[in-house]
Amino acid sequence: MALAGPAFAPVFAALHPRAFPHEPWDEPSFATLFAQPGVRGFIDERGGFLLTRQVLDEAEILTIGVTAPRQGIATALLREGLAELRAHGVATVFLEVAADNAPARALYARFGFTQAGLRRRYYANGDDALTLRLEIG
Ligand SMILES: CC(C)(COP(=O)(O)OP(=O)(O)OC[C@H]1O[C@@H](n2cnc3c(N)ncnc32)[C@H](O)[C@@H]1OP(=O)(O)O)[C@@H](O)C(=O)NCCC(=O)NCCS
Repeated sequence: MALAGPAFAPVFAALHPRAFPHEPWDEPSFATLFAQPGVRGFIDERGGFLLTRQVLDEAEILTIGVTAPRQGIATALLREGLAELRAHGVATVFLEVAADNAPARALYARFGFTQAGLRRRYYANGDDALTLRLEIG
């Protein structure tokens, strides 16, 4: 597990399509994200990535994915990422997840995330998104 800065944009771009084959983010997209204030990356060498963005005492999970599911990689990334955010003064974490993404919803539920909102037809394919929230402060 390692904190990953802008130099890791190519690594994120290589891993992201393996977790999100239908909406891959490319290297320039990650470079743009890393250039924004408050953006932090985390890489698990087993094949996983996490990108967060902090604004004052709130943070958002921008993306998380693994290339080898069900080995605890996302759990390790979230543990590390949330600890890092807490250490930097974050009190509340938000994320969006597709309503039908059962694996991700189960993962977030285990961390204590609860539903804060519903965005109907949020995704290009018409799927609904749930906004989830977790207090860590
Ligand atoms: C969601 C995702 C990140 C989970 O990563 P992971 O490394 O497989 O998760 P973990 O191994 O840490 O699993 C932790 C818990 O989450 C739940 N979970 C994970 N995958 C699951 C699945 N396919 N079905 C049901 N529950 C699941 C389980 O409770 C699991 O604990 P357990 O294995 O002890 O039962 C992974 O499936 C992924 O990359 N999906 C594609 C990208 C994506 O949808 N990202 C989230 C967008 S919001």
